[in-house]
Amino acid sequence: MLLEPIKWKANKIIFIDQTKLPSRLKYVRCMDIDTLCEAIKNLRLRGAPLIGVSVALGYALSAINSRSRTMAGLKKVLASSAIKLKATRPTAVNLFWAMKRMEDVFSRLSVDMSLQEIKRLLLKEALSILKEDQDMCRAIGRNGARLIKDKDIVLTHCNAGMLATAGHGTALSIFYEAKKKGKKFKVYADETRPLMQGSRLTMWELMKNGIDAILICDDMAASTIINKGVTKIIVGADRIARNGDAANKIGTYGLAVLAKYHNIPFYIAAPSSTIDHNIKTGKDIPIEERKREELIYVGAKQTAPIKAKVYNPAFDVTPARLITAIITESGVYDIKGFRRI
Ligand code: MRU
Repeated sequence: MLLEPIKWKANKIIFIDQTKLPSRLKYVRCMDIDTLCEAIKNLRLRGAPLIGVSVALGYALSAINSRSRTMAGLKKVLASSAIKLKATRPTAVNLFWAMKRMEDVFSRLSVDMSLQEIKRLLLKEALSILKEDQDMCRAIGRNGARLIKDKDIVLTHCNAGMLATAGHGTALSIFYEAKKKGKKFKVYADETRPLMQGSRLTMWELMKNGIDAILICDDMAASTIINKGVTKIIVGADRIARNGDAANKIGTYGLAVLAKYHNIPFYIAAPSSTIDHNIKTGKDIPIEERKREELIYVGAKQTAPIKAKVYNPAFDVTPARLITAIITESGVYDIKGFRRI
């Protein structure tokens, strides 16, 4: 069952407000990019590939909404929208990848085209980004499902599923495909403090899709590996450097260290739009730091002294040497020089 966390309908972006899950499945009808930017910043829309699709649709939306009658006027509107969209979140490279595609299309358009035609072509590009994301998810699922064996016990972190993409997800797409092939396996899902993407989103979507899933909190990972016999770890990524270092939700690096110690494979599943060819190593990946309140409160309940000093990075970087392989839409690549395996 495809969840479709984002859709384009009658010149509006319709999206699931993920902050309301799992208790409410609420759709938002978004008609302007300020609403969209707020949604991305506050994780109503989140997950690297979905952020990419969202900003592409947002760029097209702001062109369609523009009342400008000249190309110069439209150019000004789009330049200001691009600044806002790029300032929403810094780590997921899919955002910048999708924006570059949209801006490249706009810059290639000819000045004597009608504004209506320009808007049509921008929307066409954004919808292709959405469709390609769906295709990439299916292909990642098919490639990764080969690695799943009967009786596997897989640990995952955060949400790299349907709610993080326009399609079946990245890491979780592998589970959906493996299930379709009749494989019998179990998934342990980390709750993923502080914003609970694992318990709120991954558990919700895995249960909806009939995957045998068990929730644990983050600090149970080591003992679950030993006591429940975890056989592999599969997670997503927000940005992968040229050498294979991968940024993903905070806590991922710790899981990779655990995998190494316990001698189990650690896989990253991500589309090629998550690979940043402009950076050499993980040291250059910008890591988002989020507001202190995320650690001072759980929901409305205060769980730390109000004035506590807080360190709240949203992502960490797993060095390539801890990654067994990267599962992409074009194949499974051994990390040593991205060799295909
Ligand atoms: O802060 P989030 O919820 O946007 O973080 C999401 C993750 O870290 C995912 O694992 C990553 O984006 C991959 S999603 C296919």
